[in-house]
Amino acid sequence: MNAAHDPAAPPELFTWEFATDPYPAYAWLREHAPVHRTRLPSGVEAWLVTRYADARQALADQRLSKNPAHHDEPAHAKGKTGIPGERKAELMTHLLNIDPPDHTRLRRLVSKAFTPRRVAEFAPRVQELTDRLIDGFATKGEADLIHEFAFPLPIYAICDMLGVPAEDQDDFRDWAGQMIRHGGGPRGGVARAVKRMRAYLVDLIHRKREDLGDDLISGLIRASDHGEHLTENEAAAMAFILLFAGFETTVNLIGNGVYALLGNPGERARLQASLAAGETGLLATGVEELLRYDGPVELATWRFATEPLTVGGQRIEPGDPVLVVLAAADRDPERFDDPDTLDLGRSDNQHLGYGHGIHYCLGAPLARLEGQTALATLLTRLPDLRLAADPDELRWRGGLIMRGLRTLPVEFTPEKADATSPL
Ligand code: HEM
Repeated sequence: MNAAHDPAAPPELFTWEFATDPYPAYAWLREHAPVHRTRLPSGVEAWLVTRYADARQALADQRLSKNPAHHDEPAHAKGKTGIPGERKAELMTHLLNIDPPDHTRLRRLVSKAFTPRRVAEFAPRVQELTDRLIDGFATKGEADLIHEFAFPLPIYAICDMLGVPAEDQDDFRDWAGQMIRHGGGPRGGVARAVKRMRAYLVDLIHRKREDLGDDLISGLIRASDHGEHLTENEAAAMAFILLFAGFETTVNLIGNGVYALLGNPGERARLQASLAAGETGLLATGVEELLRYDGPVELATWRFATEPLTVGGQRIEPGDPVLVVLAAADRDPERFDDPDTLDLGRSDNQHLGYGHGIHYCLGAPLARLEGQTALATLLTRLPDLRLAADPDELRWRGGLIMRGLRTLPVEFTPEKADATSPL
């Protein structure tokens, strides 16, 4: 929102300026039009829900379906809206696009793999990956933290968890790169990458059937072989959503998180002092605060009214798309004291960065593990990390759902070659 904005008129949304700092526009909407109908850049009209209380209610409201078939103008008729159902790809019948009872059945199958206890077993591997990636640039004195660190870490972590063999993981890195570069929009590069990923996943499921391991894909195959009614397509879609939901989000948790810390030197110093003292409490509350303050998921995924309902006093008609603006809700002064201030020790912090209700982020324990490991290791190994660009020159990705930087150039005192991890 520019300085000359007329306070009586709604701010302009979805411009480059808005992508850089959407928070003033969200503050305006929360105050003046908390449930606001807008035309998205794709041409689709949707309701934006910006207050915390309304957002929580909408996220848990079963009258808001996740199934795009409930959209009054079926998106696939147009083919270019960015709504998931428009590409009739089989991989799209996953957790984020389905309702109970299918959602309940499929989520139960994978939830065991994501309990905090199971995820904690994965901690040494995440630490090893983190160290290896930092080894790759620590002696150079400069890096693009998105490209060299935030981007590969979650891809390798999820591939390991799923059971994608090490020799195939770079293919995943390439496909994921194509998906993220095109901002998740319905362009050719994305469709091609998704197609390759699906072909690979279906083939991998066949191969694993012959040689089951203790990875997640083997677990899904066992479940389907034991009468859990999981079709092969559902197994492939599940693997895909785990990759897709767990990848760009974590990239942005690390990217937005480091950026926020670099812009708040007092909080960063507080965290570094606490890490140096061997404490982990501030790291844990700090990662939650970074999710609240500038989280990776700006808008929750699409929801569609299945019957008339009222949100924040606004009537919503059946078929209307509803987008809950998590980034706006998490800065609502009605819910958070001093919401525009980063306070890593914030204790009353029930943010919506992982969503709420039955679609609450399944991977939250893994995301926490990756976020905490990445930030703690970076700040400990490269203690004088600093931004190597003017903040005004940094570019944010223009996609609708996610909020994240395209690049994050940093510099630091290089590690001596013999100080790096032997891994
Ligand atoms: C910091 C990182 C992450 C953030 C901020 C995040 C955020 C979210 C949010 C907001 C939702 C709900 C969306 C909605 O209701 O519209 C969600 C759902 C989901 N997330 Fe995450 N996520 C993260 C990492 C991960 C990871 C690492 C995984 C798994 C590997 C994962 C898997 C999922 C899945 C499967 C769902 C769908 C759950 C369902 O529909 O039942 N996420 N996530």
